[in-house]
Parts: sequence; C-alpha cells; structure tokens
Amino acid sequence: MNTVFEKQKRSGPILFSEYEHGSGIEKALKMDRNEILNELRDSKLKGRGGAGFPTSTKWMIVAAANNEKKYVICNADEGEPGTFKDRVLLSEYPELVFDGMVIAGYTIGADEGIVYLRGEYSYMLSHLESFLDKMNESGRLGKNVMGKEGFNFDINIRLGSGAYVCGEETALIESLEGYRGEPRNRPPFPVNTGFMGNPTIVNNVETLALIPHIILKGGPWFCENGTDRSTGSKLFSVSGDCENPGVYELPWGTTIKELLNIAGAENAKAVQVGGASGVCIGKKDFDRSLAYEDAATGGSIMIFNESRNMLEILKSFMEFFVEESCGQCTPCRIGNVKLLEGVEMIEKNVFTFEYIEKLKELGKTMQIASKCGLGQTSPNPFISILENFKEEIFNSKAESEHI
Ligand SMILES: Cc1cc2nc3c(=O)[nH]c(=O)nc-3n(C[C@H](O)[C@H](O)[C@H](O)COP(=O)(O)O)c2cc1C
Ligand code: SF4
Repeated sequence: MNTVFEKQKRSGPILFSEYEHGSGIEKALKMDRNEILNELRDSKLKGRGGAGFPTSTKWMIVAAANNEKKYVICNADEGEPGTFKDRVLLSEYPELVFDGMVIAGYTIGADEGIVYLRGEYSYMLSHLESFLDKMNESGRLGKNVMGKEGFNFDINIRLGSGAYVCGEETALIESLEGYRGEPRNRPPFPVNTGFMGNPTIVNNVETLALIPHIILKGGPWFCENGTDRSTGSKLFSVSGDCENPGVYELPWGTTIKELLNIAGAENAKAVQVGGASGVCIGKKDFDRSLAYEDAATGGSIMIFNESRNMLEILKSFMEFFVEESCGQCTPCRIGNVKLLEGVEMIEKNVFTFEYIEKLKELGKTMQIASKCGLGQTSPNPFISILENFKEEIFNSKAESEHI
C-alpha cells in the first residue's frame, strides 16, 4: 500500500456513503426501463471520464437501438497522469461498479459487460474475478439475474497493455477486438457501431458506480449536490505538494482554494487541473470552481509548490504526449514533437518570442485538427503554463537572435 491509499478520504455525500450490495439492482429490476432512463435524465449525470457527455442520452440511444446484441463497457483504463480514483473505486467499492454495470445492461438490453482494466492494475484482477464469482453464486449475475425472468447478464474483465490512448473509447474497442489500439474516425460513435459492430455504451468506472445510488435515491436527490450544470459529487485524485494526498469526494462547484485547504497545501503556486491534458492554473485563479462549466476535470488534481520549476513540469508533460501519441494523424504526431522542441529551446535559451507565439498557434491548430482527444488536449499544458507562468519562465531568459 502506498501513501495515497493510506491517506485516502472515506467520507463523501454519495459514493463514499453506505450502500448495500445488490440493493440498486433489486430496485432497478422492479422499474420499467423508461423509468430508469427518466431518473437518469433527471439526475443530469454527466460522464466522469473527462468529456462530460450526458449519461442518459448515451443510454437512451443504445436502449432504442434495434439490435439483438448490445454491450456495456466499463472504461477502467485510468491512464491520465495523476488520476487514481478508479483504482480506489474498483479495489474498495467493486459492488458499486458491477451493480452499475448490471443496471446498465438491464436498461439498454445487453447481456454482456466488459471491464477494460488498465494493464498496471493487473494485481487486482484475481480480487475482482473472485468478486464476480460470488455475484454469480448469489444470483446477481448470470441467468435470470435476481429472479428477473429473461434478464441474463455476465461481466468479463480484459486487461489493457499500458497505452494511454487505449482509454479513448474507440481505441479501447479496437484493442478489445484484438487490433492495434488506435482511435477510430467518429462518427459512427460506439452507441451505434461499437464492440464487434454492435451498439455499445462505454462509461467510466465512477459514472457506473454512481448509478446504483441514483436508482435508489432518485435523480432530484442527486441534484442536491453540485451546481445546476454539474450535478452531484466528484472524486478528485489529489497528489503533489500537500499534506494529505488522496481521493476526495466533494460536490462539484468546490473552489480550487477550498480543495487546497482540505488537502493541506499551504504553499501552492500552481494546480494542474485534469491531468497532463488539463490546464495549469496559477494563484490568481484559485477562486475558480471545479465544474464542467469552469475548471473541468476527470478528477486529476496535481499541486505544485513554490519550489517547483514550471518549465521542467511542462517538459515532462510534453515528453509524455510525444511518447503516447499513436501517430495516426499529423497534427498530433508532429505537433507534440514541435511543442516539446519549443520547451527545450526555452530551456537552452535559444528561442525568439515570435517563434513561441507561433508554437502556441500550432497548439490551437492541434486542438481543432487532431483526430482524437489526445491531440486535441495535449497542447493545453503548453498554452496554459507558458501563459500563466511567463514571468517565472521567461524572466531569467533572453531571446536569442540566432535561431
Ligand atoms: C487519450 C484519452 C484517454 C482517455 N482515457 C480514459 C480513461 O482512462 N478512462 C475513461 O473513463 N475515459 C477516458 N477517456 C474518455 C473516453 O474516451 C470516454 O469519453 C469515456 O470513457 C466515456 O465515459 P463517461 O461518459 O462515463 O465519461 C479518454 C479519452 C482520451 C482522448
Ligand atoms: S490525435 Fe494523436 S493519439 Fe489521437 S489519433 Fe491522432 S495521432 Fe493518434
């Protein structure tokens, strides 16, 4: 066990509250499928994997699809640097995640669920599989789930192999089908043409874990936490320069300043919100709220104090993207290399401000022209760190005339 596990926080309004295993499924099976979809719609739940797509819309499309075979996929790839909340949910609260998958299967008319588990989490495979065996033995999985005639549902776990891009839902499906894990062109979306060409919902671990609570207590209850556009609570994986790193469940709308206080970060100068592909926020913006409509995040919060060198941090993020780009499309394959070169030019003091501005423009082009979310978001730290920390980065540097 590492320190993050030991220090994780247990209290929270929704996910880290009491839940009796199976109770969410039991209630859902007594409901009409449309009632479940309406409850989800009323909850205004948005996906917790980063993009924030409304969960009820995704489920409604697949529920309405006229196809014999449909799939529920739980995205447990969790490759975003600084994110470890799904690891905590899967290892400490698997009943919530699996019950959420069963409810999803019942609602959309699927009989099979697949967990795509990050390769580095293979150590929890046997724990999760024996948990699934127990669910089978107790009738919570298998034929006629919990006595519901005609509703059969099984869950299998498949391991990823360590590629960040395989967390992107279409690359994940390619990987599950046995191909190289590369994003597909969209449309068609997985809800229409997903796993093996069938309508498929792909949801994040945390999204699925929220479902049993919403079914038990209702959509309006869920909306009591959070903001109008970001309802409910969020798990934040907090790491870096603070006294209490860990996983915190807090209502959406919590400000960065409040989170820093809770985590015991006294000397913070920068907070990377949303992992390597997120934006880096400086002190003047610590009043901003963590919410889809303001500082959005899939959960990763990295704290840096005054002793940190922001250019070094930016360099490590850009090295990560150069390594993880799948190389399919030019803006991302070449663009990330160019942005990293730019960082190295600043480091060596051989740059002009004009060229750095051109690189920022390149970053904006990548955001528009890249094929998938990786290349669309990888310029975020480049643009935000050079903008928000320009005094620190450029004050000690003089632009060179000779490049
Ligand atoms: C490069 C990349 C990596 C991603 N990694 C993950 C991941 O590890 N887990 C995840 O749930 N979503 C990840 N996503 C988002 C998924 O494509 C997808 O939007 C998500 O699984 C949908 O679930 P949700 O609606 O419950 O958020 C990633 C996206 C990109 C572009
Ligand atoms: S944006 Fe990057 S990761 Fe995504 S398809 Fe293009 S090269 Fe691959």
